[in-house]
Amino acid sequence: MAARQTFLIIGIFVLAGFDGCFSVIPEEEQHPDFWYVKGKEALHTSLSMTRNMNRAKNLILFLGDGMGISTVTAARVMKGQMEGKTGEESVLAMDTFPHLALSKTYNVDQQMPDSAATATAYLCGVKANYGTLGLSAAARRANCSSAKGNEVKSILHHAKMAGMSVGIVSTARVQHASPAGSYAHTPERGWYSDKELTSEAVSSGCKDIAYQLVHNTDINVILGGGRQYMFPKETVDPEYSTVTGSRKDKTNLVDVWLSSRNNAKYVWNKQDFDAVKEEKTDYLMGKATSSIWRENFHLLH
Ligand SMILES: *[C@@H]1O[C@H](CO)[C@@H](O)[C@H](O)[C@H]1NC(C)=O
Repeated sequence: MAARQTFLIIGIFVLAGFDGCFSVIPEEEQHPDFWYVKGKEALHTSLSMTRNMNRAKNLILFLGDGMGISTVTAARVMKGQMEGKTGEESVLAMDTFPHLALSKTYNVDQQMPDSAATATAYLCGVKANYGTLGLSAAARRANCSSAKGNEVKSILHHAKMAGMSVGIVSTARVQHASPAGSYAHTPERGWYSDKELTSEAVSSGCKDIAYQLVHNTDINVILGGGRQYMFPKETVDPEYSTVTGSRKDKTNLVDVWLSSRNNAKYVWNKQDFDAVKEEKTDYLMGKATSSIWRENFHLLH
């Protein structure tokens, strides 16, 4: 979401600055040969590509939330302009990847999709209803009893079952719909903590997303925002004295997570994060509050 907002501003800047017409026409681009050579090069690259038949050791699924073709185009133009060029001719690293595919993003019950149902589609392989997470379209939004028996498993879960270590890293809250699609099953993406559960959800036995984060798939690395959903409302945030946890059940989910795992570590600031000893850590949870996580995310790199 952060990327989408940034690029939206860039898009407006581009339109106002250039009005769709460039004042400087590069000399080389005025000659047909320039384009013929480029075409031949592209063809040659494609024809000389060999298929990589090796077995993959690791899998990283990188998702730019809202990063559709027009957003990527704005980023490419911006990159070129920052290098003093007109922009469109620039090449992003991902433009050079050997394979490219497009997918249709929609929900079973709605044309304009949301992060929950699309996460269910790309992480669990099943298209779903708007606002629902990790459930097939047999489930109805915010209806807990309709969720029963309609859970679909994610690629993260299957990887764990196959003996791999798994992790989630997000600039959003890790209970946010996009990352939560890898571990949660809920008919309502807004059920971040037990505070948000409806009475029907409670009586029908649905659990909030934060609860599921520590009880469902055994995840090795969890880095992102959403600290407040892990702590009771009586607990004051270690960083912001005016902020408290949001849980009504008086449960400290970080403690629950730590106490049921060996070599597990929880950090909430850069100093503690840097001090983590990888060789002695099998589990790592790093959590910021949702509001400051995005701005501080770069500190982790
Ligand atoms: C919720 O789902 C159940 C089971 O599918 C169904 O019987 C019930 O009518 C639904 N409730 C509402 C309010 O739609």
